Amino acid sequence: MATLVTGGAGFIGSHLVEELLKEEREVVVVDDLSTGKLENLPESENLTFIKGSITDREFLKNLFNSYRFDTVFHLAAVASVFKSVEKPIETHRVNFDGTLYLLEESKRTKVNKFVFASSAAVYGDLPELPKREDMPVKPLTPYGVDKYASERYVVNSFNLYELRTTALRFFNVYGEKQDPSSPYSGVISIFMDRTARYLRGEEVTIDIYGDGKQTRDFVYVKDVVKALLIAERDSRTEGEVFNVGTGRETSLLALIETLKEITGKIPPVRFLPHREGDIKRSVADISKIRALGYSPSFSLKDGLKRTFRWFIENLLR
Ligand code: NAD
Ligand code: UD1
Repeated sequence: MATLVTGGAGFIGSHLVEELLKEEREVVVVDDLSTGKLENLPESENLTFIKGSITDREFLKNLFNSYRFDTVFHLAAVASVFKSVEKPIETHRVNFDGTLYLLEESKRTKVNKFVFASSAAVYGDLPELPKREDMPVKPLTPYGVDKYASERYVVNSFNLYELRTTALRFFNVYGEKQDPSSPYSGVISIFMDRTARYLRGEEVTIDIYGDGKQTRDFVYVKDVVKALLIAERDSRTEGEVFNVGTGRETSLLALIETLKEITGKIPPVRFLPHREGDIKRSVADISKIRALGYSPSFSLKDGLKRTFRWFIENLLR
């Protein structure tokens, strides 16, 4: 039996793969390397990397015929909200069609568990906070719409086909190996990268879109991996959706302050126009997943310290 991680060469996926390998499991990673990187993956005889796209049905059929998967962790996606606004058709093919194909193969070959990476983006900016799983949703972007539609197919596959499934709505994940190279990368990775460069003497700025008062629930990647493993193992998660965050709301301005406490100095801050589709406030109610024993282990400061150390060591070599 092997465990499949789609998007395993990406930021969150590669942390999950590391943890699965620690448990001495046989892991298969499928990734088209569109944003993922081979160097994110450790060397291990228990790890097989296969380059391929989840939009290719023939490829998926052959893959599922070649391996018996116990669990499918489906993390492959175009993860950038703003890329989905620019390229809705391409994004839909990956974020929605790809999910459907994987569900189909998982059902056909009777995998034990299917865990899907959904997103807080499904909530949109309806005013009620913190976000609870049973609240109405109003996704604002193609990314959010595709995550929501996929999520519905994922949880309904439990009721319709008895495929054991769980969808996790990740809030804003950060940590080592997050790629800062696009303007649409996760905000913490960009701020970390700029600060590391600034400390090295480069002339860079930290750019804030809008007034910096927008808030997010920033969750450290190791805590997200913990949630993925709970979703895999706890039968109470079957056919259910769970928020994965910390329950703490942090504005970008507060984030910058904390970053400054850690690094001593930060680049000059510029305020740029607000981005279309950007959500104003976001924070999770995590009581549903807490009831299964999940609790975040890392404070924002601790998580940022570990992340910054990695950025200094790895990006500026
Ligand atoms: P990432 O871009 O680092 O990882 C996504 C991976 O999917 C990459 O390795 C990429 O190469 C791969 N991929 C993309 N298209 C593919 C395709 N057609 N076939 C095969 N592989 C493909 O992003 P991430 O932050 O690690 O996100 C992982 C998952 O978590 C995604 O589903 C994302 O939507 C979701 N998520 C992320 C966050 C966050 O804050 N980072 C929050 C909510 C949800
Ligand atoms: C992020 C994830 C998305 C996930 C969602 C869940 C990434 C790239 N996106 O989207 O996959 O589903 O969380 O909540 O990880 N900002 C700046 N300056 C910058 C970059 C960003 O001010 O240089 C602002 C953005 O405009 C936004 C906030 O920071 O207001 C957060 O942006 P971002 O990290 O891209 O996250 P989300 O859009 O919330």
